[in-house]
Amino acid sequence: MIKIAPSILAANFSRLAEEVVEVEKAGAELIHIDVMDGHFVPNITMGPIVVEALRPVTKLPLDVHLMIENPDAYVEQFAKAGADYITVHVEACKHLHRTIQLIRSFGVKPGVVLNPHTPIEQIKHVLEDIDMVLFMTVNPGFGGQKFIHSVIPKVKQLSDIIKEQGLSIEIEIDGGINEETIVPCVQAGATIFVAGSAIYNEENRAEALQRIKAAGER
Ligand code: DX5
Ligand code: ZN
Repeated sequence: MIKIAPSILAANFSRLAEEVVEVEKAGAELIHIDVMDGHFVPNITMGPIVVEALRPVTKLPLDVHLMIENPDAYVEQFAKAGADYITVHVEACKHLHRTIQLIRSFGVKPGVVLNPHTPIEQIKHVLEDIDMVLFMTVNPGFGGQKFIHSVIPKVKQLSDIIKEQGLSIEIEIDGGINEETIVPCVQAGATIFVAGSAIYNEENRAEALQRIKAAGER
């Protein structure tokens, strides 16, 4: 079974609550929240107050993707705002294991994100400590970009390691996911799929979400 995590980055921010409820009713499994600081990535989006505002709106887990420098300084705020998962970029963490411990200390599930060029060797020694690995299949910063296929072998590599070691880690894919690109990602072993523009830019979001899921489960 695969899970779809619509990214609200592509939603209409003037009616965010309704946009979240709509994809929950359509069968989404998580809500993906893209936090950008204008430093780690060249764009600024939303902070803990948005997570806090959305917490009572949905029962779905809130999957908070931190594209920020010095994530340690903000983990507590995002945890208290109601995040269920907090994922941090390995490229932004000086002491990755400490950041993971910090996230866990607030009862939140920790995940690590890899940019398209970052090898999985960088997370080999924290696999026992995390609940999720998020592979970027675009360069982080913006929605609506083209899927980078060269990430797929990395996904397969990690998926094999997870199986060999009997670990329970979700593999999430983020960037350019649609009915076509989801297919090789499922084959490589990914389990959760972020989709922003492929859902929110469609008139019928429920149909778009179900089409992507069906393509992944075929
Ligand atoms: C990109 C974000 C993604 C983005 C995905 O930096 O992390 O979550 O919203 O958008 P699409 O699905 O349009 O590529
Ligand atoms: Zn994201």
